[in-house]
Amino acid sequence: MSNYHIKHLEEYFQVYRKSVRNPEAFWEEIAEEHFVWRKKWDKVLEWDFSKPEIKWFEGAQLNITENCIDRHLPTRGNKTAIIFEPNNPKEEAQHISYHQLHEQVCKMANVLKDHGVKKGDRVCIYLPMIPELAFAMLACARIGAIHSIVFAGFSSNALSTRINDADCKIVITSDGSYRGAKSIDLKGIVDKALEECPNVQSVLVVKRTGAEIAMKPGRDKWLSHLLDNAYGDFVAEIVDAEDPLFILYTSGSTGRPKGMVHSTAGYMVYTAYTFKNVFQYRENDVFWCTADIGWITGHSYIIYGPLANGATTVLFEGVPSYPDHGRFWEVIEKHKVNQFYTAPTAIRALAKENLDFVEKHDLSSLKVLGSVGEPINEEAWHWYNNNVGKNQSPIVDTWWQTETGGIMITPIPYVTPTTPTFATLPFIGIQPALMDEHGNELKGNQVEGRLCIKFPWPSIARTIWGDHDRYRDTYFTAYKDQYFTGDGALRDAVGYYRITGRVDDVIIVSGHNLGTAPIEDAINEHPAVAESAIVGFPHDVKGNALYGFVMLKEIGESRDRENLRKEINQQITELIGPIAKLDKIQFVSGLPKTRSGKIMRRILRKIASNDVSNLGDTSTLLNPEVVQEIIDQVV
Ligand code: PRX
Repeated sequence: MSNYHIKHLEEYFQVYRKSVRNPEAFWEEIAEEHFVWRKKWDKVLEWDFSKPEIKWFEGAQLNITENCIDRHLPTRGNKTAIIFEPNNPKEEAQHISYHQLHEQVCKMANVLKDHGVKKGDRVCIYLPMIPELAFAMLACARIGAIHSIVFAGFSSNALSTRINDADCKIVITSDGSYRGAKSIDLKGIVDKALEECPNVQSVLVVKRTGAEIAMKPGRDKWLSHLLDNAYGDFVAEIVDAEDPLFILYTSGSTGRPKGMVHSTAGYMVYTAYTFKNVFQYRENDVFWCTADIGWITGHSYIIYGPLANGATTVLFEGVPSYPDHGRFWEVIEKHKVNQFYTAPTAIRALAKENLDFVEKHDLSSLKVLGSVGEPINEEAWHWYNNNVGKNQSPIVDTWWQTETGGIMITPIPYVTPTTPTFATLPFIGIQPALMDEHGNELKGNQVEGRLCIKFPWPSIARTIWGDHDRYRDTYFTAYKDQYFTGDGALRDAVGYYRITGRVDDVIIVSGHNLGTAPIEDAINEHPAVAESAIVGFPHDVKGNALYGFVMLKEIGESRDRENLRKEINQQITELIGPIAKLDKIQFVSGLPKTRSGKIMRRILRKIASNDVSNLGDTSTLLNPEVVQEIIDQVV
């Protein structure tokens, strides 16, 4: 038997050693014993980080939906696969069994096929957190089509950029979406986006809010009619191990989003294996990850990881504050959730509310608490531990990224002793390295540097859609033969890792990865703006918030400053989405620049964080005089 389920610390160390001494043999055993294949691989691993080229299980053939659905039907057909908890608690929750999931996914696959979707085609999904989102992504996988899910909080502009980048010919959306007490006109956003997307031929629309919407004849169709008439079985298309399963966009340090491409077999094996161990999932447990499926956390730990293990996974449409701040705890009590996985920003927001919201609910079903997306600060960790976990449920602080596909550094609950703010130890098969600024690896303990990974793991992204050079340049050139994460980290005296934050131009706001460049591009499009620079500053709920330093053109000088601030945020909302709005905007007469013309963000970060006692060397600046001026006018 392979080491699919790790139960104590000795076992972790022993399995870890095995996984790094002979990764091929280790992953082959896991893949062999716990998944169904139409054909086994010819070679377990082929890799070269300098190209970069990474192939796992080459030659194997499979369909991931046979692993996530069909193989469970004989033994778990009537077991609940997905619990759908609607935005409004008065609307009844739905329990979707594996049999029903199979039928719905097959129907959706037939509808897509009837609309010309074939293996390798890209399908854009722009949906709220409703069951059709799960059906649609799995239907793509069943056909061998590549899904590109765009978080339904992104603007029409962000949506059209993503549709065009992946050349999607079909979009699946809904009439609207609910968000707490509000409803949002999703179809209107899609219509606007599609003005820029000439290649989209069909739009399939789920009815969710019942809002009055425009349907473009010949292009737009209601999905429910099509699904009602579709056949409930669909023979899964067989794909190769390395065929792309999906594209998911993440921001980077230039304006264009990066379409990270994940492959099929390696992603499946790694997300399933991490899910089982990091959450210590046992048959009949109820698992709830509160992320949106529009992010990697939702892809890997609402859908693929749980379903590959035959688990019951909660799909929550709502928000933590509606109808009141006890919603998370109410849902845990209602569905007897055993593993709960959320983001520090949610914990910090809820910790500000009256403790009654937590205490009036029975949370005794909980066994494991997870955290993801940003560093969890000590105060939030203790609040989570004391009030939600009642000091009984270990907290797993899981570090990973869109690019890594699955959890990379994490405690294993009931196995790894936890320490607040530490993601602790590398997961099985993960070989982290800390590097100094000269490119040397920092060996031993009590060191701090840039976090790299020196050996491939099965779910590493394989490329950036349409731009392999950018993939290489972003992740594989900073340090020779290493995957560079963009994060800083330290390793303490016992070898535990603590993530210290991004070391590039990405800022994590409320757990969302935001590149400064696209936001600056959006601001600079405002007719009154000459130039801008965005930095992060500490925020007690969001972790980081955005501070914009904006230099106006002459035409902007006479304008009312408050109105300009509103217009700038409006511009960002339209071009990217509300998640990228700035908390503070300071108008400046110049930005501190080096002689080569680069903005010195280090100085701006310090000013925004109100930490100006030691600004370091400013003598190399082209315009050192603006620094004091900016400090004097801080907002
Ligand atoms: O900076 C790290 C931070 O989130 C980044 C990845 O963001 P994204 O690709 O959107 O994926 C988020 C969900 C996996 C990382 O480079 N991050 C994520 N988890 C943690 C974290 N920082 C500290 N601790 C974590 N547990």
